[in-house]
Amino acid sequence: MNHLIAPSVLAADFGNLQRDIEMVNSSKADWFHVDIMDGVFVPNISFGFPVIAALQKHASKPLDVHLMIVDPDRYLEQFKNAGAATITVHYEACTHLHRTIHAIKDLGCIAGVALNPHTPVSVLEDIITDVNMVLLMSVNPGFGGQKFIENTYKKIRSLRALAAGRNDDLLIEIDGGVNSNNAGALLNAGANVLVAGNFVFSAADPVEVIKDLKEASNLIQA
Ligand code: DX5
Ligand code: ZN
Repeated sequence: MNHLIAPSVLAADFGNLQRDIEMVNSSKADWFHVDIMDGVFVPNISFGFPVIAALQKHASKPLDVHLMIVDPDRYLEQFKNAGAATITVHYEACTHLHRTIHAIKDLGCIAGVALNPHTPVSVLEDIITDVNMVLLMSVNPGFGGQKFIENTYKKIRSLRALAAGRNDDLLIEIDGGVNSNNAGALLNAGANVLVAGNFVFSAADPVEVIKDLKEASNLIQA
């Protein structure tokens, strides 16, 4: 499949949110990546339902909701009602991950599980056929603008191997420190969804940067 690009709203200008949403609408981006942080699972608080409602009102592309919150089961339905097309929960935040993944699917959403940089992909052995997407954190969750962790390439390859023959349609999303220097190599390793926050929103021409990421297969090096 062609890979997807998901600009992270966390890096948008919240004083000009409608303008930034319309920029993404007019670009080659596929999804809006929406980072929800609770100040407990991660040492930062981002935004909640009123902001998602504002986003949903103007966005012409699906909302890809990344929950960095403890006990996400409490809010799945609310996120669905707020317009989430995908809901990704953290492996490290779910005691009953199988139940949570199926609750997301029952709501009609794409179900994702996220792994922190220190969590090996092998923990997904018994859930790999249930999930639609795995989000690999390529920075420690909590903040935008951090440096990409190189070990991510190895994790993408291990995850593709784990999913081979069992979930060949698996979406592998990479989140944190993605830019045009590593995008090609990430796709080459087996990723097919790239999140980009600061690299997009701090660019002089964000629409052009999104186009470059969308055409990143041109950048793939052997
Ligand atoms: C970090 C978030 C990321 C973040 C990515 O906890 O999950 O989605 O917004 O931002 P950049 O691309 O700036 O690293
Ligand atoms: Zn994210």
